[in-house]
Amino acid sequence: MAKISPSLLSADFSRMAEGASFLIQHGADWIHCDVMDGSFVPNISFGPKMIADIRKAVGPEAFLDVHLMIDQPERYIEAFAKAGASLICVHAEATTHLQRTLTAIRDLGVKAGVALNPATSEHALDYVYGDVDLVLCMTVNPGFGGQKLIPAVIEKVKKVDEAKKKLGLDFEIEVDGGVNTENAMLLRDAGATVLVAGNAVFKAPDVGEAIRLIRG
Ligand code: DX5
Ligand code: ZN
Repeated sequence: MAKISPSLLSADFSRMAEGASFLIQHGADWIHCDVMDGSFVPNISFGPKMIADIRKAVGPEAFLDVHLMIDQPERYIEAFAKAGASLICVHAEATTHLQRTLTAIRDLGVKAGVALNPATSEHALDYVYGDVDLVLCMTVNPGFGGQKLIPAVIEKVKKVDEAKKKLGLDFEIEVDGGVNTENAMLLRDAGATVLVAGNAVFKAPDVGEAIRLIRG
């Protein structure tokens, strides 16, 4: 069964920790935390202190899936690890020495993820598959919630899944952006094992039901 990682980007920012607890109560497997710097993406969200405060509210067991949409993320991985991230995902486009950054995340005792923008080929991963716990295929150009999924990325998800099987690895394949109850099955069939959803969860009339349907 796939996991769902609802995105707090669609939550009320003045009550973020409450939002995280609410999602867990409604069956969320992971909590997706979108960190944006206003440079790598044209939006600004929050930093390590928010992660630390969420961690305090949700307790040690919750899985905080931290998606860094920031330039040179290597500058901040230690701060996010200390704040309580369970997984730190960096963009391949944002870090020059990707393999070094992924290794540094694992050395901090945190799971390491690498994200690819829609236009980035999966071949960017050819020499780092052994260094990742998760590959995130962005299904929108990152920066904002509520955008429409770019269907061309589904082919990339399939290719990453093929590489995973060929190499006999068991990293997670995450999709993020425009995921909803209608397209979730297509994404899971393509190989996605973790589905991020912001608007499709927060705007749903029945949050628990939306979480169940997206997870499959
Ligand atoms: C986009 C973020 C996503 C976003 C998803 O830049 O990385 O995690 O919050 O939101 P929806 O599901 O509304 O597209
Ligand atoms: Zn995200």
